Amino acid sequence: MTATIDNEKLQQFMGKVLSDFGGAASAILVYIGDKLGLYKAMSDFGKPITSQELANITQTSERYIREWLANQAAGGYLSYDSSSQRYTLPVEHAQALVNESSPAYAAGGFQVVMSLFRDEPKFLEVFKTGKGIAWGEHDKDLFQGTERFFKPGYTANLVSSWIPALDEGKVEQRLKQQQGAGLKVADIGCGHGISTILMAKAYPNSRFYGFDNHRASIEYARNKAREEGLGEDRIKFEVASSTNFPLAKEKGEDDDDDDDTHYDLIAFFDCLHDMEDPQGAAAHALKTLKKPDGVVMIVEPFANDKLEDNLNPIGRLFYAASTMVCIPASLSQNGPALGAQAGESGMSQVIKASGFKHFRRATQTPFNIIYEAKP
Ligand SMILES: C[S@@+](CC[C@H](N)C(=O)[O-])C[C@H]1O[C@@H](n2cnc3c(N)ncnc32)[C@H](O)[C@@H]1O
Repeated sequence: MTATIDNEKLQQFMGKVLSDFGGAASAILVYIGDKLGLYKAMSDFGKPITSQELANITQTSERYIREWLANQAAGGYLSYDSSSQRYTLPVEHAQALVNESSPAYAAGGFQVVMSLFRDEPKFLEVFKTGKGIAWGEHDKDLFQGTERFFKPGYTANLVSSWIPALDEGKVEQRLKQQQGAGLKVADIGCGHGISTILMAKAYPNSRFYGFDNHRASIEYARNKAREEGLGEDRIKFEVASSTNFPLAKEKGEDDDDDDDTHYDLIAFFDCLHDMEDPQGAAAHALKTLKKPDGVVMIVEPFANDKLEDNLNPIGRLFYAASTMVCIPASLSQNGPALGAQAGESGMSQVIKASGFKHFRRATQTPFNIIYEAKP
C-alpha cells in the first residue's frame, strides 16, 4: 500500500528544510563575519555602509564582501537600502553579534558550530562504534567558542542571581564577608575558568580553586587569571579529575584531613553530565565539602524531565550539542552518558545516590537550571 502524500504538509516541511539548509550554510558566513571583524566594522561605522567601504575598512576583497552582504541581508541579519545600495547592522543585532558584554551575545555559538562541522568525521565514526570523544579531542574552536558562548550568561547571572539563590542567601553573605579568612570555593570541570575568574573578582576575600582534566584548558585559565591580575593567593588552577581533586591545601601544609582544608562551596558549571562518573564526582564533592554548612552548586543546561517537553528550539540546540559533545565526552571515560538534557529528576537521582540529603532547584534562566545540594 502506498501512503498518500499530503502536499500541504510536504510544502510546509520543505519550507522548514529550506530555512535550515540556508541557515546551516550561512552559519559558516556568520563565523567568517565574526572572525574577520565584519560585523564589528559595520557597528563601528555607525551608519549604512557599501560593500566597497566595508572591504576597505576590513582590508578584504570587495567581490566577496558584496556577496556576503547579500547573504546576510537575505537572512535578516542586515538590512538593505536598494536606493543607496547600503547595508545596516541594526543596533539590536549588534548586541548578539558584536557586543561581548551583552547577555544576548551569541557569536561564540557560531564558533562552536564551526568546530562541530569540522569534527563530523569523528561523529560518523562513533555513531558506528559506540566509542567516545574526549573533550580535548575536539576541534579547538570548541574550547574558545564555548567560553565565548557561556560567558555572557555567567556574567549576567552568576554573581547577581545564581549565588544569591543558594542556601537562602547565606552563601553570598559568607562570600562577601570582609572579616576572617573568607570561603574556599572549588570549581570542578572549570574549562577555561570563566566562572572561577568571575567569582574570584567578585569576592576578593575568598579563595578559588579550578580543576579540570583537560590540561590545555587549565593552562589557558592560568594565563587568563594572570592577565586579570589575580594572583595565586586568590585563584589556583590545577589539572585534576572530578573524582579525585585535592583538598584546599597550601604548600607546606600537612596532609591532615582537617576541616579547614575542605571547601565551603563546590560548583559544577555545565559539566557534571559530561563526566565519567557523575555520581562518583558528587560523592567526592560531598567528601571534600565542609560540614555542615558546605553547599554544592550544579549548573546544568535547561531541560524539562520529559523528552516531549524539550521539543522546542532550545531543546533542539541542546540535544545537538549533547549528541556531538556531551554523550561522546562521557562515553570516552566509560561514563553513563546522561546527556545535556538529563533534567531535574535525572540530576536528583545522581545527587541523592551520591549521599547528599538535600537537593533542590535553586533558580533558573531560559538556558540553565541551577541546582543546590547540601549534606
Ligand atoms: C562543557 S565544558 C564546561 C567548561 C566550564 N565549566 C564552563 O562552564 O565554561 C565541560 C568541561 O568538563 C571537563 N571535564 C569532563 N570530564 C571531566 C572529569 N572527569 N574531570 C574533570 N573535568 C572534566 C572538560 O574537560 C570540560 O572542560
